[in-house]
Amino acid sequence: MILSIESSCDDSSIAITDIETKKLVFHKKISQELQHSVYGGVVPELAARLHVEALPKILEECKEYFPKLKAIAVTNAPGLSVTLMEGVTMAKALSVSLNLPLIAVNHLKGHIYSLFIEKEEVFPTTILLVSGGHTQIIEANSLKDMKLIASTMDDSFGESFDKVAKMMNLGYPGGPIVQEKGLKGDENRFDFPVPLRQSPNIEFSYSGLKNAVRMQIEKLENEKPLEEQDICDVCASFEKTAVAHIMQKLKKLFKTKVPKNFAIVGGASANIRLRGAIEKLCQEKRCKLYLSELKYCSDNAAMIGRVALEQYKVKDFTTIEEIDIQSRIKEF
Ligand code: KG4
Ligand code: ZN
Repeated sequence: MILSIESSCDDSSIAITDIETKKLVFHKKISQELQHSVYGGVVPELAARLHVEALPKILEECKEYFPKLKAIAVTNAPGLSVTLMEGVTMAKALSVSLNLPLIAVNHLKGHIYSLFIEKEEVFPTTILLVSGGHTQIIEANSLKDMKLIASTMDDSFGESFDKVAKMMNLGYPGGPIVQEKGLKGDENRFDFPVPLRQSPNIEFSYSGLKNAVRMQIEKLENEKPLEEQDICDVCASFEKTAVAHIMQKLKKLFKTKVPKNFAIVGGASANIRLRGAIEKLCQEKRCKLYLSELKYCSDNAAMIGRVALEQYKVKDFTTIEEIDIQSRIKEF
């Protein structure tokens, strides 16, 4: 079995995966959303301190599997360096004390492998990765052969939901809250411009849309305090535009070549409107669509363990001296 640890942002999670059967024999996650909610976003130092409390607690619960372990896996990049460090330090200690090899896992590959938890891999797949830190399109042919074909020039899709929620003091994470409010709103009340509409390139940008929403909120607040219906209408109109931006670029991509398989992964892939629009596009284009189970969309150690299985097979190990923390990485 492989023990995997995830601490790249605000979720402390540990999983144990059976190497032969790919079965997830243990999986637990402690989220810090409530603690960060008052700040309207993740506070790295606070997140690190909370990992220090949560990770050993979870570890305590899976001690019975220790004799069966063959390797320790951990997310080492990308993410918040102070929180990555907590998981990596725990992994190093386990590797030394249990005398087991160490596997360093890329968090973004983890999101991609959230599609394959307890399942076989499916390649080639074109993947839309939408999370709090990333908005990317990746062409994946295998774990080792992944090519970034588009990304955001500024904010990410999920981050823009967090920021819109913060503007109206709705709490964190913004994605589920904005989605919920949007369901009760009028998506046509505000006409926000779809980003990069004229650009022929397949790339993303969310800072302009975020500013347009901010200006609209300020305009409303200058007239009178925001009412619940105003909030719901802003959320619906913003979400419609945020999704329209992705769909416009995906349609452009599908025009050049319809992929055989398509998938959406990452925390923000839980967005119902986005899922619905992509389902429709894939149906029209007869492209097979893969979605992660909702419980595996946001950060978790099960997806890290699934990548680690593949790395274990080819003995892709690292050492406690070599393993490094990289908060930012551009390529796979
Ligand atoms: O993948 P994830 O758990 O963490 C990162 O690696 O960033 O993604 C979290 C992000 C947050 O920005 C959150 O607001 C967003 O995913 N998110 C959503 C939804 N659920 C979560 N964004 C839009 N709609 C949602 N339903
Ligand atoms: Zn993530």
